[in-house]
Amino acid sequence: MSFPRTRLRRLREHAVLREMVGRAAVRPADLVAPLFVKAGLTEPEPIPAMPGHVQHTLDSLTREAGALLEAGVRAIILFGIPAVKDPAGSDAYTEDGIIQQALHRLSQEFGPDLLRIADLCLCEYTDHGHCGIVAEGRIDNDRTLEAYRRIAVAQVSAGADVVAPSGMMDGQVGAIREALDGARFPHIPILSYAAKYASSLYAPFRQAAESAPQFGDRRSYQMDAAAREEALREVALDIEEGADIVMVKPALPYLDILHAVRARFDVPAAAYQVSGEYAMIKAAGSAGWLDEQRVALETLTAIKRAGADIIVTYFAKEVGRWVHA
Ligand code: PBG
Ligand code: ZN
Repeated sequence: MSFPRTRLRRLREHAVLREMVGRAAVRPADLVAPLFVKAGLTEPEPIPAMPGHVQHTLDSLTREAGALLEAGVRAIILFGIPAVKDPAGSDAYTEDGIIQQALHRLSQEFGPDLLRIADLCLCEYTDHGHCGIVAEGRIDNDRTLEAYRRIAVAQVSAGADVVAPSGMMDGQVGAIREALDGARFPHIPILSYAAKYASSLYAPFRQAAESAPQFGDRRSYQMDAAAREEALREVALDIEEGADIVMVKPALPYLDILHAVRARFDVPAAAYQVSGEYAMIKAAGSAGWLDEQRVALETLTAIKRAGADIIVTYFAKEVGRWVHA
């Protein structure tokens, strides 16, 4: 049946009906808020390229998690910045490492009301800024896996509900699954950064996490922007190794990849709207060039529509407030 009997505008006329028939609406409960906590701070430290975000102290982190819950956002992904970095990134797995302290504190304060996802990587903790152990100028994949095993167990012991390996080492999901199972944590899910591209959109994050590589770049482990089918291979391998949720990152410029993952696999899919995506919208918004709130919601809706069940976004708290209001 076609025009004039069929008029699709009928479904768009009334706002209530319009909302009812939209299948890809963003809900605060789908969102994950990234938070940064830094050892040794006495005051939260603003992150210049990420307006509205700071490096937290343990106290301000706890307050921010409370504000998120109030806004209807119930999940966070946590990044730690240690006081001292070393070649092995050892603060990532010591019992009193900054992220362990933060996980412990948040567990005590919020218990199961807050889903605590721990980003599992070495780049914030190594003095060279790479996501793995460096040997003879290269990132040693298999030695890195040994470190990841220790980090996983340390994070879960401290109160992480989910671990999210982001280093793009081969075999990382399998190694972490084995380590968790061996440490009596078989119930802890792995959210894998399965298709993570080497993107210039991570620049503000590296300022936030103080994690820029001190030599070279991340292209020997993160994917090239031109790669397509390789993303599906990465996802398939991670699922085989035991990933419970697979993530695509960045989000908006990679919606084709997200959609292909959604179409091919049945596991829940996540997308990470990264720091550069956030910074672009914030900058244009503060210049008065576009409406920040509308653009943020539109991009998140597009990410949802492309197939994301879960979205990691720096807009999480604001979206919670906008949508709740
Ligand atoms: C570290 C990590 C990065 C991001 C998440 N985890 C940065 C990187 O790979 O350099 C990027 C997040 C963002 O830009 O918001 N493994
Ligand atoms: Zn890393």
